Amino acid sequence: MNDRLVTATRVDEDSQYEAGLRPRMLDEYIGQDRVRENLQVAITAAKQRGEPLDHVLLHGPPGLGKTTLAYVIANELGVSIRATSGPAIEKPGDLVGIVTNLVPGEVLFIDEIHRMSPVVEEILYPALEDYEVDIIIGQGPGARTVKMRLEPFTLIGATTRTGLLTSPLRSRFGITHRLEFYTPADLEEIVRRSAKILDVPIEDPAASEIARRARGTPRIANRLLRRVRDYAQVRATGTITLAVAHAGLELLEVDEHGFDEVDRKLLRTIIDKFGGGPVGLGTIAAAISEERDAIEDIYEPFLIQIGFLDRTPRGRVATPRAYGYFGLQAPGRDSRLW
Ligand code: ADE
Repeated sequence: MNDRLVTATRVDEDSQYEAGLRPRMLDEYIGQDRVRENLQVAITAAKQRGEPLDHVLLHGPPGLGKTTLAYVIANELGVSIRATSGPAIEKPGDLVGIVTNLVPGEVLFIDEIHRMSPVVEEILYPALEDYEVDIIIGQGPGARTVKMRLEPFTLIGATTRTGLLTSPLRSRFGITHRLEFYTPADLEEIVRRSAKILDVPIEDPAASEIARRARGTPRIANRLLRRVRDYAQVRATGTITLAVAHAGLELLEVDEHGFDEVDRKLLRTIIDKFGGGPVGLGTIAAAISEERDAIEDIYEPFLIQIGFLDRTPRGRVATPRAYGYFGLQAPGRDSRLW
């Protein structure tokens, strides 16, 4: 079992906390304005009524801040958070152990909640609905079920796609939000904020350049910032100027769209091997030796968002923009496809 009790005050000691880069309260949180505002209302209302916040489901591609938001919500509520993940809860008893130990109002965060096994999920239903669990005592014909009361709590579940959840589980969340890719302006603000925390001087055009290449994702923006900071320290005077950012990013082979090797291989394979598509996801996964889920959850959403890839009923299609990126001319197609 891998669950950790993290109180709001211990949060900044958590090494996973990107060395203090993650915001702790809603007013430090940049971007996702609609989600933030909705949460602000729901949290304030719950606090005024002295009730636990309704269960929250956060979904969206990795790196957009689902875990960060879970901790922010707990901090805003002024309660501690117990964090675990779907695959870490192996047996029903593991989950019973967690929920029976929650203190009143506490937040239970389950990352990758879609990867919970069906028998574990069954335990969760009455826990979410009525704050109780059914415990089976004994075995065979003599076994009996005992109901156990739980303290009121808030579940925050995170998943890459809501479609991966069973509908009974999905329907038990009162608050559901989708996190979107961040705008370049929001990412630039995040980069400047992180640079300040890391105590590294950065010029505005450099912050903007790092933001532009971060695939709409704060986790990537912060990672690029760290690497460029290294570059500035070792190969320059420590300040991240635009020239330093360009040179550092070039060394990392991060191009102007923030594409890495897999993005390029994925697009190139569709273009070169499958005539630009449509081609099925399974075929692409086999052709580039990547996990189907990784393509669907990590690579594809951003390529679709920036208009390089299209998802059609017959498969994935590389758009003229993708051809243009490689200096190629898109084949003449039925214009209705575009
Ligand atoms: N660091 C990572 N994500 C962030 C966000 N959304 N706002 C501020 N800082 C962040």
